[in-house]
Amino acid sequence: MSRLDVETFFDALAESGTQTQEQIRQLDNRGEKALPPFGVERMAKLVGCTANHIRNMEKAGRVQAPESKEIVQQGRGGPKTVKRRAYDLRDVNHYRDALGTRPNDATGAVRVVFSNQKGGVGKSTTSVHFAQYCALTGYRVLLVDLDPQASTTSVFGYIPDLDIEDEHTLRRALMEDPDHISEVIRPTYWDGLDLVPSQLLLQNVDFGLAGGGRDDVLGPNWARLDSALARIERLYDVIVIDTPPSMGILNFNAVFAAHYLIVPMAPSMFDISSSINYCRVLAQLADSLRQMEAQMNLRRFNVLVTRNDGGPEHLRAAQVIRAIYREHVLVHQLMQTAEVQKSANDRKTVFEIDKPRGSKETYRRALDLITGVCEEILTNIRTLWLEDLSLTEQEPLRKGA
Ligand SMILES: Nc1ncnc2c1ncn2[C@@H]1O[C@H](COP(=O)(O)OP(=O)(O)O)[C@@H](O)[C@H]1O
Ligand SMILES: [Mg+2]
Repeated sequence: MSRLDVETFFDALAESGTQTQEQIRQLDNRGEKALPPFGVERMAKLVGCTANHIRNMEKAGRVQAPESKEIVQQGRGGPKTVKRRAYDLRDVNHYRDALGTRPNDATGAVRVVFSNQKGGVGKSTTSVHFAQYCALTGYRVLLVDLDPQASTTSVFGYIPDLDIEDEHTLRRALMEDPDHISEVIRPTYWDGLDLVPSQLLLQNVDFGLAGGGRDDVLGPNWARLDSALARIERLYDVIVIDTPPSMGILNFNAVFAAHYLIVPMAPSMFDISSSINYCRVLAQLADSLRQMEAQMNLRRFNVLVTRNDGGPEHLRAAQVIRAIYREHVLVHQLMQTAEVQKSANDRKTVFEIDKPRGSKETYRRALDLITGVCEEILTNIRTLWLEDLSLTEQEPLRKGA
């Protein structure tokens, strides 16, 4: 049996992969990604008034109404073209500002970290949906992709290998200069939602900063994200951080920076054992930090049950999760649904779908599920805002709290 020339073999595969990605992008001629437009009823609901009020404001010239667009509607007698006002999230926020209905309860940026050493449990799915939900609600949101696999980045219309360079990720902010974070924040097509993208080279942080340690200028290796975020967080109400499925320094930085740590967990016995192990790792981390006279910022911890298919095995495992993590388990679960899977195949979220992929009911159910989870997390953040006027100076979460 002859030996494989590993370098040539995988180099050729990677090269043909890149070419195929380029071709797919050219075929996929959808142009820039955008949110499906809102009609006046949905718009009014988001703004927090009636549709009539919106129309009156427009008539009175209190706001600049967007152009009407022709849209095709499916009626009983077949499709017909009607002219409708089509609003986007920028319009919604503009009207909110005119009416004073933008939420104003944020007392500081809450850093929400979705983390678990396991992959495939819904960290990225929940991070992106939650960040978009907060933006829909009218908050100023920063979504940080700390996973070199960059699935969160790709939801925003990028092919990380082709569109994102090393210079565009957090690598430099974490390894060289915390102020570099300002250079890598980019707006998205969601008004009020900014993104720090990722790509494969971000994994060099895990190699480059491994083994702990402290740099006289940049500070300890585990607190680099904390210092970078401190530079820009006055610009945001919520900072959502998606993490890699490993326990390297990238993940430790996220956990150290977190005010609110959410561990998405699939209801399987394997995942439960791995989560118990994860708790031990977190306890050890806090212990070593204490010995170095450093303290974590954590105020709140929750487990989110994800990918529950409602079958007897999952239901039993979900009960075990509740028995272990008790009141720390969120009431809402991100049940397994075909709609999430199908929209992910198109690199979209459930909030971005203009037409349901399956039946209307399945779509509605997926939307309700996601909204329930996001609402519960946002309610918990509101409690943190009420408790805290300055999140970083408060007493951190204590044993038995
Ligand atoms: N509730 C759900 N229903 C159906 N599919 C899901 C659900 N949550 C996640 N997925 C799918 O599972 C896969 C892994 O999810 P992802 O969020 O990328 O996990 P992680 O970030 O933890 O690795 C993705 O293909 C995603 O679309
Ligand atoms: Mg992920």
